Amino acid sequence: MSLEITRPTLVVRQLSDRDTWTYTYLLIDPATRQGVLIDPVREQLERDLGLIRELGVELLYVLETHVHADHVTAAGMIRQQTGAKIVYGAAAGVQAIDVAAEDGSELKFGQYKIKVIATPGHTDGCVSYYVDGMLFSGDALLIHGCGRTDFQQGSADTLYSSVTQKLFTLPDATRLYPAHDYNGRGCSTIGEEKRWNPRLGNGQSREAFVELMNNLDLDLPKKINEAVPANLASGISFDPKRYLHEEFSMSDLYKAWHNLGEDELIVDNRTPEEYEIGHVPGSRNIPFGTEGQSADELKQYKRVYLYCRSGRRAQTAFANLSIMGLNNLVCVGHSGMPQWVLGGFEVES
Ligand SMILES: [Fe+2]
Repeated sequence: MSLEITRPTLVVRQLSDRDTWTYTYLLIDPATRQGVLIDPVREQLERDLGLIRELGVELLYVLETHVHADHVTAAGMIRQQTGAKIVYGAAAGVQAIDVAAEDGSELKFGQYKIKVIATPGHTDGCVSYYVDGMLFSGDALLIHGCGRTDFQQGSADTLYSSVTQKLFTLPDATRLYPAHDYNGRGCSTIGEEKRWNPRLGNGQSREAFVELMNNLDLDLPKKINEAVPANLASGISFDPKRYLHEEFSMSDLYKAWHNLGEDELIVDNRTPEEYEIGHVPGSRNIPFGTEGQSADELKQYKRVYLYCRSGRRAQTAFANLSIMGLNNLVCVGHSGMPQWVLGGFEVES
């Protein structure tokens, strides 16, 4: 018997979170060590980062199949640690991500291409990812089951179309890797589900499926009220008290301004009109609401100070940029330009 491997094959690590019965997948191209991570769970952050480090993976993407209601994603924190890009289906409407993937679009890692298949129904923004004979179906199609359709804009009718017209048209041998299995079954195939899935297989009619799904009468997931808003921010919920360890005042900003290094920047988050009237000398005007467009550039600085008039806009800009992965920010959170003027500090206009 020969055990020789003729072609290096895609490495698939199926990782589980037993609290929520969630499967996370780490895919690695052995030739280039480039990889992607699908549906990471916040509680498993250290495990997943450890594995990525140990295996020497250059993580390109964190792929989310949908906005989960049962667990909080680790995507935002993994992006901060690895520089990987966060991908959601475009219809999920999640802010502060890197790729809003359209149906049919492709993502490359190493020698592999991931095809994005929009599979709405469990939620309206659900996508499945197809790569190399494998389908990562999220909660659209589960092993001998499917995701519920009674919240997050779910629709049994839509899910029926997604599964029967898209997923069931893939080759029977396609291996199915779902986001959950509550019985530890790991994986299935499209052929097996077409034959045996009690909800959607064996030629189940649309009417019977909708009737079945609309009468499941399930309890809400325990974490839904925490998980959905947190996942809309890629798992990094903004708590000003956590980030603004100490009160940073306009007098502190004056000291920082006095010794400002080449690699430091002061940003004024007020409107151009307010900025015109008078601002901290040398500060850059990035009006609140547009800060996201400057995120990549602001990342290059060792430190970026934010201020506005009362601290409210600077704090919100601070939150938005933190969610986008910036960890070099200092925010004047409870005062602003009027205190600078009162302090008698130099004003530029
Ligand atoms: Fe779900």
